Order: sequence, then C-alpha cells, then structure tokens
Amino acid sequence: MTHRTEHTVSVDGSDVRFACSEGDTLLRAALRAGVGLSYECNSGSCGSCRYELLEGEVRDRRPDAPGLTARDRRKHRRLACQSEPLTSCTVRLGAKAESAPHRPLRQTATLREIRPLTHDMSEFVFVTGRPAAFSPGQYAMLLLPEGQVERAYSMSNVGNCYGEWRFVVKRAPGGEATSILFDKLEVGARVVLDGPYGHAYLRRDNPHAVCVGGGSGVGAMISVLLGAAALPDADSRTVHLFLGGRSPADLFRPAALELAQSRLGALHFHTAVSGTSPDGAEALGTGGSPYRGFLHEAVLDVLGDTLTDFTFYAAGPPAMTDALARTLVLEKGLTADQLHFDRFC
Ligand SMILES: Cc1cc2nc3c(=O)[nH]c(=O)nc-3n(C[C@H](O)[C@H](O)[C@H](O)COP(=O)(O)OP(=O)(O)OC[C@H]3O[C@@H](n4cnc5c(N)ncnc54)[C@H](O)[C@@H]3O)c2cc1C
Ligand code: FES
Repeated sequence: MTHRTEHTVSVDGSDVRFACSEGDTLLRAALRAGVGLSYECNSGSCGSCRYELLEGEVRDRRPDAPGLTARDRRKHRRLACQSEPLTSCTVRLGAKAESAPHRPLRQTATLREIRPLTHDMSEFVFVTGRPAAFSPGQYAMLLLPEGQVERAYSMSNVGNCYGEWRFVVKRAPGGEATSILFDKLEVGARVVLDGPYGHAYLRRDNPHAVCVGGGSGVGAMISVLLGAAALPDADSRTVHLFLGGRSPADLFRPAALELAQSRLGALHFHTAVSGTSPDGAEALGTGGSPYRGFLHEAVLDVLGDTLTDFTFYAAGPPAMTDALARTLVLEKGLTADQLHFDRFC
C-alpha cells in the first residue's frame, strides 16, 4: 500500500486545520474534510476561491489562471482550487460557505455507455465501485487518461446505489477534453472521477422551482428536475424546465420528462432559440415552436409577475447565467438565496 505525504493547512484567525494529501488542492482537501469554502468552477476561472498564503509553499496548477486579476497577483492572492500545498501552510481565506451534503471523493470510473443526443451533445455514462453519492445539480471533475486533462461536468442523473454517474457533454470546437471524450474514449475506458462539487444543488424548502439550462447546462437541469420528482412531496411541486440553444438542432427532449411528469404536481417544458435558423423543433413536445430569443427573456415572458414565487437553478455558458442573474436579482428583486448556479467557465 502506498501512502501519500500529508501536509497540514491551518486557517488564520481560527482553530480550523485540515490535512491535504500530496497532489491534492487546498480547496478539495478542505471540502473533503468538511470545511466549507467559497468556490464555483474548481477550474481556475471564476476567482471565487481566492485566498492569501501567509506561511508555507504551494505549487500552482495553472499559473496563468484567468480567475486572478493583475491586482490579485500584485496582492499575492492565489486560487485555492489551483494550489497544491508542498509543505504545511497557514492561509487567510475569503468568505466561508455552507458545506454541501456530500464530501468529495476521488475514485476510478469506467465508461459504460455513450448515448448521442444531438449533433454535438452526448450522454456519457460512467460507473464506480461505490454508490454515486451527490445532490441533484452538482458536478464532478473528470481526469481523462489521454493527456491527463481534467474538466468539470455536471451529473445528469440523481445519486444512486449502483455507482452510476451520467454526464451530458457538449463538444467544444477544438476543445482538449471534449476531443478526448468524443473522439478517443471507448466503452471500458477508465478515468479518475473526483466529486461531487458545487453549491447549485436542489433545495427542498420551496415547492416551486425553475430550471434554466443553456447549451451544455442541460444535464445539470435534468438532474434537478429528477431530484424534485423523487421527493416524497413531489405531487405538490411545480417545475418549469427551460432549455435553450442557438438553433432547434441544438435542443432535445430529455427522456426524464416522462418520469418527472408522472410524479410532479405540474411540469412545464419550454424551449428557446437565440439564432435565426428555420423552424424544426416541433418534435420537442412543448406544444409549440421554441421561443425566439435569449433564454432569460423567455423566462421573463413565461413567468411574468409570478417570478418571485420560484427558486431558480441555472447552468450553462457564463453569458447566459450572468444575464439571468442580472435580470432576476437586479431588475426583478429576487433574493440571492432564490437563485443557484455554478459558473461553467
Ligand atoms: C461547474 C462546471 C460544470 C460544467 N458542466 C458541464 C456539463 O455538464 N457539460 C458540458 O458539456 N460542459 C460542462 N462544463 C464545461 C466543461 O468543464 C469544459 O469547459 C468544456 O467541456 C470544454 O472543455 P474542453 O477541454 O473541450 O475545451 P477547452 O477549450 O480546451 O477548455 C475550455 C475550458 O477548460 C478550462 N481550462 C482550460 N485550461 C485548464 C486547466 N489547465 N485546468 C483546468 N481547467 C482548464 C477553462 O475553464 C476553459 O474555459 C462545466 C464547467 C464547469 C466549471
Ligand atoms: S477559480 Fe477557483 S473555484 Fe473558480
């Protein structure tokens, strides 16, 4: 049995300490130990995990990470999601956050199936030896065997005892990870799956939910929908699912709709296309053509004055989630705890 060296991370101004194994990041080690930290992308892009290193030495996984501004760098700020401690450290952290219900775990996963969904989206089904423990709407980091590329992908199913982890992935033109997933990985291939992560998981308090998924965000929203449908009081819950793309060819009707429909009090499915391509999405079963315009505009149009009755979940390109957040919070007066999303950047 091999033992990895462990370093101790001490949080300045508190009695919080946690162990970080060699090669792990400060953020992931904190979350594995049940210490809640502020973060979103886990990929070095959003900047929400900034901290200050007071003592000790760390290695930066991504020295040019866009999550740090020039000012941050001048002030010697770092990103907890990209820092691997090389010695024991003392850190000053930014805002603390609530701990998610499941602690992340690194394990091997085997690719069991690939199901094409659209011209550039497929569902990848992986299995692990342990139960798949996560909350609807969370994501995992997949470390792909070729080139050791790691990216975040949201689960499109719900936690289960079979160890099944589903991900709806959209091919990024020329993208490093998606080229491996779509062009190289074959059924039976093994990857390292580390998760779950993310704060944008289903909350139970409000029975009225809106799920807004743009492009690659559809998987996370299917997971939230299925999670709501699996709750004991599902028959008193309402869910609006909005999916958007540039053209009808970017959209598909999730198979989960039928199951959710049979359990929820009310389920409404809406689609929106932002481009100017011809019609062709009648088969989506929304009872009409997709809304023409941006996804956040469709949400405003459909929900009107009832907007503030709902808790919102969103996933997809940052431009979409940012536009939605701006509209809902700044213009429509939603409180921050009524909107949950982790930026896909
Ligand atoms: C929380 C979260 C959930 C996501 N869920 C989904 C999902 O369910 N489905 C889906 O299709 N996509 C999802 N994404 C996007 C996904 O992680 C990839 O960015 C996307 O697949 C493109 O990856 P690529 O390598 O093919 O493209 P590339 O263009 O090669 O890389 C694009 C992205 O990778 C990240 N990146 C680049 N270099 C590094 C590095 N050295 N280390 C870490 N990150 C780096 C950057 O964020 C960049 O925007 C999610 C992203 C986040 C943050
Ligand atoms: S930059 Fe670290 S969580 Fe986004």
